[in-house]
Amino acid sequence: MTVEKEEVTVTVNGESHVVSVEPRELLSQTLRERMGCTEINIGCESAICGACTVQSDGKSVKSCTRFTVQADGADIRTVSDLADEGTLTDIQQAFTDEHALQCGYCTPGIVMAVDEYLDHNTDPSREEIRNEALQGNLCRCTGYENIVDAVETAAEKLD
Ligand code: FES
Ligand code: FES
Repeated sequence: MTVEKEEVTVTVNGESHVVSVEPRELLSQTLRERMGCTEINIGCESAICGACTVQSDGKSVKSCTRFTVQADGADIRTVSDLADEGTLTDIQQAFTDEHALQCGYCTPGIVMAVDEYLDHNTDPSREEIRNEALQGNLCRCTGYENIVDAVETAAEKLD
């Protein structure tokens, strides 16, 4: 059976792309396989781990939970778009300084989720960091104390 493809226009890290995709193709798949965004990691593919988190029109979304056709016209940012000519953002620097990653698999997704969260809450408590900023992201290395430290440090710098 031939499945009809749909044309989708999407901006990824400032660059416009037009792709022809089957309606069932996931955004995570399109970003990784067609646009070379291998910084997006795939874990559960079921909206649990958050490893695939990107920002779509400024909101963090789990890209495995979106069909690419739903992203038509969207402005997508991945973690690769954060650093400015090699200069890390305050959040990225805080993750480095606080040793907030071990294998690093969860880190791109967490950084994108935190980047959006700190736009809305510039002075979160540690409880808010755990229960709100990080609620959609899992770290299988379980280094949560350092991740919370990093978000707290980043928030202080951004405030
Ligand atoms: S791979 Fe998307 S939430 Fe886990
Ligand atoms: S640092 Fe390994 S999964 Fe989070």
